[in-house]
Formats: sequence, structure tokens, C-alpha cells
Amino acid sequence: MEIIETVYALDRFLRPFRDEGKSIGLVPTMGSLHEGHVALVKQCVGANDVSVVSVFVNPTQFNDKEDFRLYPCNSEADCKLLESLGVTVAFVPSVEEMYPEPDTRVFDFGMLDKVMEGRFRPGHFNGVAQIVSKLFYAVKPSRAYFGEKDFQQLAIVRDMVRQLAIPVEIVGVPIVREESGLALSSRNLRLSDEQRQKAAEIYRSLRFSADFVGKKSIQETIDFVTNRINQIESLRVEYFDIVDGNTLQSVSDWNESAYIVGCIAVFCGDVRLIDNISYKN
Ligand code: PAF
Repeated sequence: MEIIETVYALDRFLRPFRDEGKSIGLVPTMGSLHEGHVALVKQCVGANDVSVVSVFVNPTQFNDKEDFRLYPCNSEADCKLLESLGVTVAFVPSVEEMYPEPDTRVFDFGMLDKVMEGRFRPGHFNGVAQIVSKLFYAVKPSRAYFGEKDFQQLAIVRDMVRQLAIPVEIVGVPIVREESGLALSSRNLRLSDEQRQKAAEIYRSLRFSADFVGKKSIQETIDFVTNRINQIESLRVEYFDIVDGNTLQSVSDWNESAYIVGCIAVFCGDVRLIDNISYKN
């Protein structure tokens, strides 16, 4: 596996493959790789001639400086894991490499980023679009892989690709969960064992509520999930929205859309966790 740190060297390495018409897959990550990333990488390696995994903690998507400072980072272990998975290139740039000057681009995602994560993390998706577009320009991938855990991010990336007319196929990969149901996340590393057990209640409540479709109202479902999770000491729901899976706007009735998803953000102590469940698809 090549470990490449600059856009120039990456382009030089990938150019012959592009010229030969080989497919290039990209998995953008912020490192601290776990089984969720492994699922993305395996899918990428299996479907493409060349696979690139970027490991870069992107400062522009952190609206909270403390969250950025505390974000776990272990690029040596990450590279070892990527090598064992058959990845062709680990792209590990510095902040100066990706942002030689401040990125002043402002994206307009309409209502897509005004809700849920966008509401509670202002500027977050603009930062995601900045780095993901730069990675797409650098790698020029045929396909790029994103986890469905970050449901809103996936919708934003698809919209960005549409707006910028970037010729890349965006592939969403299902959430990988611990045995307890807790969605895998690099942030889980910051949970104590006890917190980890409590955090499993997030998905347990979501799953329980899947039975409510068409039986209880949307508001009753929201109240049920929110109250059940908030009852657990050290868990606090920041939002739980039931939305149209395409527009991400709240629905008020189960018949309003054929694609309905519940998206949640919960603080477990000071660690912020997100998850989602597809109610109708
Ligand atoms: O999902 C993530 O880890 C990040 O938001 C991404 C897509 C790698 C951009 O920094």
C-alpha cells in the first residue's frame, strides 16, 4: 500500500490507472477506523481496480473547537488496518495541504442543511462539502463510499455532486452496529463501558418504535423515543426528527411519504452520538 501525503503525488500515482480506464474507488474518512469503516473499505476494494482511503480530520466541519481537539487520531494503526484490507493508497494529507489558504466557498443546500445536524451544527455541512469536493477533485474517483449512519451527510454529498456536476457514483453503505445495537462511531472510543451500555438504548428505542408505523401518530412516536431515551441517566436527546428520506423535511403523517426515516442525536455524557432508522422505504 502507498501512503501518500500530497495532492500532487496522489495525482501522479493515479494518472496511469485513469489513463488505462481503471476504476478508482474512494472512501473519505477522518481516521480512527472501526468496523463501520471496514465495511466501506471492503465494498470499495471489492468493486474497484484501485482503492483510495483518505484519512484527514477536517477542521472546517467542526463547529465546536473542543470536539475537533478531542477527535481521536491514530493514523499509524489506521494505515496498518488499511494495508491488511488490500487498499491501494492511503491518502494522509496535512491541513496545509488541503487548505493552503482558507476555503471561502459557501454552498447552498436549500432546506437540506437547515434541519437536524445542520440546525445544531451550523457550518458543519459546508465544511463537509468543502473537503469532500476537494477530495473528489484530487482523486477523481469513479465511486465514493459513505456510511448511512451519517444519513444527512449522504444526502448533502449527493446534492453537492449534482450541483457541481462531478461524475462520481455515490454509494451508501448500511450502518454497522455493535452486538448491543449501538451504531459504530469513532466517538464511541470516548465512552466508558457503562456509557456504552447505556448508549445501546438509543437503537433499542428506535427499533421498538418501528412497530408504531401506521399505528401511532408521528408525534406519539417522537415523544415515545425521546422520553424513553431521556429516562436513562446520562443520556439526553438533542433532536429526534421523523423525516422524508429524500427532502429531510419533517413529516406529520405516515402516509405523507413512501420513504420515511427517523434521525436522532443524543448526548451520552459529553459525547454526541447520531443514529437513524428507516421506517418506510
Ligand atoms: O463522515 C466523515 O467521516 C467525514 O464527514 C468525511 C466524509 C470524511 C469528511 O471529512
